[in-house]
Amino acid sequence: MLMKLQKNAIGIFDSGFGGLTVFKSIVAQLPQYNYIYLGDNARSPYGDHSFETVYQYTLECVEWLFKQGCPLVILACNTASAKALRSIQQLDLPKKYPNNRVLGVIRPTAEVIGNRSTSKSIGVLGTRGTIKSESYLIEINKFFPEVKVYQQSCPMWVPLIENGEHENDGADYFVKQYLTGLLNQSSTIDTVLLACTHYPLLVPKIKKYLQPNLQVVSQGDIVANSLVDYLNRHTEIETQLSREAHQLFYTTGDAESFDQHATVFLEKAIVSLKVKV
Ligand code: DGL
Repeated sequence: MLMKLQKNAIGIFDSGFGGLTVFKSIVAQLPQYNYIYLGDNARSPYGDHSFETVYQYTLECVEWLFKQGCPLVILACNTASAKALRSIQQLDLPKKYPNNRVLGVIRPTAEVIGNRSTSKSIGVLGTRGTIKSESYLIEINKFFPEVKVYQQSCPMWVPLIENGEHENDGADYFVKQYLTGLLNQSSTIDTVLLACTHYPLLVPKIKKYLQPNLQVVSQGDIVANSLVDYLNRHTEIETQLSREAHQLFYTTGDAESFDQHATVFLEKAIVSLKVKV
């Protein structure tokens, strides 16, 4: 396969398509940079994989993006951020890639989400891996000790989205089931955080089953704002980035299927290439 070369791009990684919701928000705010998106579709969903497996898969994908010349990689995946980010930052980068950086999506979200809730009561929806890790409980309470965090895992949502079933009637059953599971935990929740980058595609159905006074928060803009701030503070990384506004898309799965699904996420046609990481 012919690899296209694109030096000094920002790498954006997700287990599959979900990270495209974050990619879209980042490109909207920072269109000048080059981007390489990698979806590990062949091995997704990550939600139910063990800590070790998510770490191994994520590291392989991050290293692949480093090899393409990305000085900075964003893990646009909560499951990977919860289970792999800390090990990569603390073990792998210092030893093997001291000049590269990897950022996740949990901390930037935790830093601001407490300000969005009036009742100081937040519901977090995520994959089993993200919820079990309790990363949001811990991180939100670091920044907002007064906030109560309720969690609900939604294991069927990523498979519904990855299989293009999220707009069909069958999806309603699982949307209702998990929202009920969350809201039964507390009547004070006024903010529902979609702590999985796939979930914004389910927003129309989620809103259908929530009272209008509950707000639904997606992470795309939060992560994009945080990246703008990071690049302003880290000129040693920012000055390495090329500015040709090019975007490349890679998948470990089937490229044709990636292109079809990606069109739904991005609302524009793209052409991806299949790679082995
Ligand atoms: N988009 C990923 C996340 O944010 C989905 C993980 C999965 O593959 O299950 O958690």
